[in-house]
Amino acid sequence: MTIEVVPMHPSLGAEIRGVDLRQPQDEATVKAIRDAFDKNVIVVFRGQDISEAEQLRAAEYFGKVAYRRRPLNGVGPGGDYDTPFMMVTNIIRDGKAIGAFGDGEMWFHHDTSYYAEPHRATLLYSMVLTSWGGETCFSNMYAAYDNIPRPLRDKLEGRRVLQMHDYKRRERLNVETADLSRIRHNWQPIFITHPATGKKALFSSRLMSARIEGLSHEESEAALEQLFDISEDPSIVYEHQWKLGDLVVWDNWCSIHARKDFPRDEDRLMRRLTVEGQAMQF
Ligand SMILES: [Fe+2]
Repeated sequence: MTIEVVPMHPSLGAEIRGVDLRQPQDEATVKAIRDAFDKNVIVVFRGQDISEAEQLRAAEYFGKVAYRRRPLNGVGPGGDYDTPFMMVTNIIRDGKAIGAFGDGEMWFHHDTSYYAEPHRATLLYSMVLTSWGGETCFSNMYAAYDNIPRPLRDKLEGRRVLQMHDYKRRERLNVETADLSRIRHNWQPIFITHPATGKKALFSSRLMSARIEGLSHEESEAALEQLFDISEDPSIVYEHQWKLGDLVVWDNWCSIHARKDFPRDEDRLMRRLTVEGQAMQF
């Protein structure tokens, strides 16, 4: 085994070198990858040339691969649902989107925080890139938790936050007017204990966190704004500049991610898998 783990940012993210994901990895290598993942929150494999089957095998190093869920009441992203793969793309063929989350900026979020059992990990593989933009920014939610001022942390400890998503990309849902019967949502601990590492992490994001339990609307909005600012502090954000053949894997329980803008008239194609999770605990 010759893998090398090279940190990419002081707060989170490491490149794993010396792994060709076209080949099955031995047990010791898989353990080293998992350890690097638990420690660094984000891991990146550069220069990969992998098929769907090889990406599936890589995903299984991190857990059980999740299948896509069909839209709720017709509200959901496009693409094929009879597969674990989601194409994150702006490509349209015969007038129909071949995938999801088409174009432009996307605000910080956890993937599937609005499920009862948020997914553990996401694997995103770059296949077609635009000439500029489309960077993915990742923020360390362990660090965000540690950076919350004591009085605010004490005020929010033990409370839940409503996570909801209607597949918009840069707009907060108004919880006062939203029809929750049509939108996927779940109440989650606002501070979680990460099931694998035992560390506390902030579990909220600008795109998906709508309301804190037990606070007035105004108090909840003020607290969430503070949390969003803390969680998006540049000192805890790693910005990934994509190259073709990058496979990026993020720990979706202790990180949030956002996408920067890119040209609408150029194709972008990423192949995504997620790994099943479990209920979040305080
Ligand atoms: Fe996402």
